[in-house]
Amino acid sequence: MNENLEAMVSPLLRWYDENKRTLPWRGTGDPYKVLVSEIMLQQTRVAAVIPYYLRWMEELPTVEALAAVDEERLMKLWQGLGYYSRARNLRKAARMLMDEYGGRFPEEYEALLRLPGVGDYTAGAVASIAFGKAVPAVDGNVLRVAARVAGCDGDILDPRVRRQFRGWMEAAIPADRPGEFNQALMDLGAMVCLPNGSPDCAGCPLAALCEANRLGLQDALPVRRKKAARRAEELTVYLLVRQGRVALRRREETGLLAGLWEFPHVPGALCDEEAGEPLAGWGLTAREWRKRLTARHIFTHVEWHMIGYLLEAAGEGTGLTWADREELEALAVPSAFGKFLEEARRALEEEETR
Ligand code: ADE
Repeated sequence: MNENLEAMVSPLLRWYDENKRTLPWRGTGDPYKVLVSEIMLQQTRVAAVIPYYLRWMEELPTVEALAAVDEERLMKLWQGLGYYSRARNLRKAARMLMDEYGGRFPEEYEALLRLPGVGDYTAGAVASIAFGKAVPAVDGNVLRVAARVAGCDGDILDPRVRRQFRGWMEAAIPADRPGEFNQALMDLGAMVCLPNGSPDCAGCPLAALCEANRLGLQDALPVRRKKAARRAEELTVYLLVRQGRVALRRREETGLLAGLWEFPHVPGALCDEEAGEPLAGWGLTAREWRKRLTARHIFTHVEWHMIGYLLEAAGEGTGLTWADREELEALAVPSAFGKFLEEARRALEEEETR
């Protein structure tokens, strides 16, 4: 038990009643809505999630609808959110709910944990928010608030430290309002107890009992050990345009961005003189080189440094799908290629008006 975390319950809930954010997935006890929102929110900010969530619920309002959706549509609904395995796992979870539970959700934390893509945090969030179970939902925001309030300098990436926080939260969580308690911590972490040296301690309902505030340790807590550096990969990306169409191909079924559509590319940063070399491998020749552009994209463990070439291609081409403007919009192209996607749209539009 941690005394500060126990003492924070009442002021935190009082603050939440006055200050909680109005979010489209709140005020519903529907576990499907809670699950979808929590999975979307795992690596994405609230403001970015809202339009995706609303669109998803229009198209896939139930577990049954999600279980039946086809891959292309699923990827399209997720396009731009990143970490696409989250969408696939959601559909797997929906199918498991259909097969094993007749389309209903189990209420217990342990049963929820068995759903694909559902870990400690999400199982806790669904059990507490949708079913009123007194289980914590400890994410990065909550760890930051808890580490500061408790004045705990353990490394929050260390599983032992996380278990300790979890234990403290289990002891502190109020049985009558567990879902609101969890969401109050999330809101406080997102609105007041901000990272990077900018917490608003003057406006914080927990300031009087917060160890970090008392000792001036807001910047030092939480403690997080350095992560391994990200690996950089260089790529040369091709926007191959031919008769009002652009070439795409589908990524492998496993690994990074599995199964999504991409513009053909080769490893390495090829300079202007070398850039024509890979074309023969796709059964193409260059008719006209039009533009060179660069882009970067950061993933969790790797970052891509890309050079792109826009060119008019000639030849039949092998292993490529040629999409016109409309077809391009129906394909799920990940944000990593966002700049190229925009350029491809522009190029196809220009072709039409030529
Ligand atoms: N971040 C993740 N889940 C959330 C929720 N339910 N409310 C607010 N922020 C969140």
